[in-house]
Amino acid sequence: MTKSFYIAVIYLVVILLVLDRMNTGQLFSTGDVRAEVSRSLVDHSNVSQSRFQYNSSTSSFSSQYLINSIDRFEWYRQQMYSNLNIKKPETASNISTLYAYEFEHEITVTTTSWKRLGYRVYCRYVDRNDLEIGEPFESFTYPEYIVACKKRKGTRKIGLSVGKNGEFQPIPIVDRMLKKPKYELSMCISAIYGSEPKWLMFIEMIEHFKMQGVQHFYVHIFNASNYDLRVINDYVRTGELEVHYLIERDSRTDDRWQKVNIADCLIWSRLESKWTIFADLDERIYMTNYTGTILDYVREVKNEDVASIQFRQQWIMKTELMPEKYEGEKQIDTWMPTHRWHNSSGIGSPGHTAKCIIDSSKVFKMFIHRPTQFFPSLNRPYIQKVVNPEEGIIRHYRDQNLGSWGRKWLKGILKFGPFRNTNYPERLIGKLTENVKRRIKYVYR
Ligand SMILES: *[C@@H]1O[C@H](CO)[C@@H](O)[C@H](O)[C@H]1NC(C)=O
Ligand SMILES: *[C@@H]1O[C@H](CO)[C@@H](O)[C@H](O)[C@H]1NC(C)=O
Ligand SMILES: *[C@@H]1O[C@H](CO)[C@@H](O)[C@H](O)[C@H]1NC(C)=O
Ligand SMILES: *[C@@H]1O[C@H](CO)[C@@H](O)[C@H](O)[C@H]1NC(C)=O
Ligand SMILES: *[C@@H]1O[C@H](CO)[C@@H](O)[C@H](O)[C@H]1NC(C)=O
Ligand SMILES: *[C@@H]1O[C@H](CO)[C@@H](O)[C@H](O)[C@H]1NC(C)=O
Repeated sequence: MTKSFYIAVIYLVVILLVLDRMNTGQLFSTGDVRAEVSRSLVDHSNVSQSRFQYNSSTSSFSSQYLINSIDRFEWYRQQMYSNLNIKKPETASNISTLYAYEFEHEITVTTTSWKRLGYRVYCRYVDRNDLEIGEPFESFTYPEYIVACKKRKGTRKIGLSVGKNGEFQPIPIVDRMLKKPKYELSMCISAIYGSEPKWLMFIEMIEHFKMQGVQHFYVHIFNASNYDLRVINDYVRTGELEVHYLIERDSRTDDRWQKVNIADCLIWSRLESKWTIFADLDERIYMTNYTGTILDYVREVKNEDVASIQFRQQWIMKTELMPEKYEGEKQIDTWMPTHRWHNSSGIGSPGHTAKCIIDSSKVFKMFIHRPTQFFPSLNRPYIQKVVNPEEGIIRHYRDQNLGSWGRKWLKGILKFGPFRNTNYPERLIGKLTENVKRRIKYVYR
């Protein structure tokens, strides 16, 4: 008697928990990719059915299967044909996947294969018993590093192959069938590689952007030292940072990873964050005479046509490599980039190596310095807003020697005006220094 009563209670609790999982987008810690993946795997078919009827007014993109009144996969194909000026995609020699994301109307798979733009690949669907579901779906790599796959009921994992029945490695699927973005403002940090010590540059960057209202960070790591990974992993621990690791399966120079980083970040942040900053470790975007944070600023952008907000550059000459290891508080006061370097160029012309904050659900193709193609909009075309330097700017602590920057680019920068000393804002540097020291002491003391 009592036994069956307890069973009934437990049954009820389980049902309630399952319903709760299906209805909240916020249940899992934000830093945990695995948790998100498993959420998308739990009763996947039911979740997608219930979400399918969701009538979104937060994003016109997410609620429309059609793009520009035609089937979205057909629209992608047309873009590939006309932008690449090809008649038919060729068969890829091989394809390496990165991550997969499930949206309302498609599963988007990102890839790492270099020089594999506009090639034919097949989406391969796997169910909860690891059995393939149905015929492979023919798709293609467009835009670069991105493959759109049709949705298929019961899919638990997805893979890509180059031949219709060729081999493939299925990967889990990140849930992006969110009712609304989890974050208002996040940041996608450029891929980490190279041998310069990163720990201090990394901490200052994160702490700076947190003070500007950034709620979440995405980063790709190709290579980092164990010492730098200690603090990178600590930001993962506190749920502020998510990491995707890059593995080289072709051969390219390290700086070629930047475009993989941007393509994967475009999809990774799409609909999870309303606004996403795409910038480098050594860039500090801040508001000049606008009184407020970057978050305050983007909140004031009420025009839904604005899909990108572009900032102009000011280069601050970074003349030394960053210190290898933490040696005490005094070192931080002298070596934080915002304390150490002041010799500044004039302000770059609009668009010149600029950086943007985008609504990635409205951007079809993203480049390092700006979106190169917006999605067609239901109403007026999407637009980019250029922030004038009286409101906000990027302080770019550019190393003079890495990538021979000084030799290659300095001349071009001189035309923007004479060099003079400028400072990171007085009103922010105290708090920034305090926050940087707090994190450093937690990790490296
Ligand atoms: C999901 O749907 C299947 C049938 O399609 C059903 O057996 C199962 O109980 C459902 N799960 C939940 C959590 O509703
Ligand atoms: C979605 O919502 C809008 C505005 O609330 C409404 O006009 C429209 O009919 C709805 N669409 C569906 C399919 O329910
Ligand atoms: C990876 O980073 C470490 C530490 O910075 C460096 O010593 C090593 O040379 C790098 N390896 C590659 C392949 O870049
Ligand atoms: C993939 O194909 C390219 C071009 O044919 C080749 O250079 C590369 O080594 C191949 N990579 C793998 C992992 O097979
Ligand atoms: C600032 O940097 C420019 C460009 O490298 C250089 O010509 C100039 O001498 C520097 N000024 C100072 C004060 O170091
Ligand atoms: C901010 O405003 C002040 C006073 O109007 C002006 O002197 C200054 O140049 C402005 N700063 C920027 C970065 O535009």
